[in-house]
Amino acid sequence: MEIKGSTNIVGLIGHPVEHSFSPPMHNAAFEKLNMDYAYVAFNVKPNDLESAINGAEALNIKGLNVTIPHKIEVMNYLDEIDEVAQLIGAVNTIDFKNLKGYNTDGIGAVRAIEEVASIKNKNVLIAGAGGASRAISFYIAKYGADNLKILNRNVEKAQKLANDVSNSGLIDNVGFDSINNMDLSDVDILINTTPVGMHPNVDDTPIAQACDMHEDLIVFDAVYNPNETGLLRQAIEADVKPVYGIKMLLYQGAESFEIWTGKKAPIDVMQEALTKYLG
Ligand code: ATR
Repeated sequence: MEIKGSTNIVGLIGHPVEHSFSPPMHNAAFEKLNMDYAYVAFNVKPNDLESAINGAEALNIKGLNVTIPHKIEVMNYLDEIDEVAQLIGAVNTIDFKNLKGYNTDGIGAVRAIEEVASIKNKNVLIAGAGGASRAISFYIAKYGADNLKILNRNVEKAQKLANDVSNSGLIDNVGFDSINNMDLSDVDILINTTPVGMHPNVDDTPIAQACDMHEDLIVFDAVYNPNETGLLRQAIEADVKPVYGIKMLLYQGAESFEIWTGKKAPIDVMQEALTKYLG
């Protein structure tokens, strides 16, 4: 890829950003489609966020991904915020055409799951009630699930998120419970957003031992390191379809790519670059 005077710059702001998988994934896509774009990571300290956004605009940067710790604060410096991103209360993608913010994390999870089955009319159970759960929950509601139940260690946090999703009007039935009360018998799609099973505790799983997985279940684990978590190994052993965390990274990137360029993202090339980078 040759960087020229005409090259369009997109990128990532966060703190830190050194280990981001996004530059190799997006640059592989630009190269494949022969597009005059380059994706760069910028390490922006919390106090510099406003000047970074103003500076990016002044430098004619076309789009940015936004990661920790800026996803919430950045909303103060945008002209427009997508409706669902507003409900989530966090932005991970900026389109500088109209200085508009989006949240593609939740869409990423939904597109990953929809590779396997439609979310429409399904009963969905989500473990965890933090930032990732919040982003995914609103999109599960938007994509037409019948029922959403949020389980968390801290039940008050699950209740708060369940109330927020319910108040959005995107879905009628939203419940919550303790993560210790998991029952999968009526569940179509199980989503883990807790860090349980993340490296180095690779044998841990958020599912209680006695909790059976029926054969029509779909299990998505947002944890991507390791690729095959304890939860996904349980799923495979029970002949249940696994959806890997890496797919959420892939599709949130694909969605951002499509927002910035208006072109369909080359999924296969991006997946290959991601797999190569994450090892
Ligand atoms: P993220 O942005 O990845 O969602 P987060 O906002 O810190 O991260 O949320 C982490 C979620 O994982 C929370 O729901 C947390 O539960 P609590 O609210 O009870 O803290 C959950 N979590 C973290 N460690 C966990 C563990 N060991 N067992 C069960 N849940 C855990």
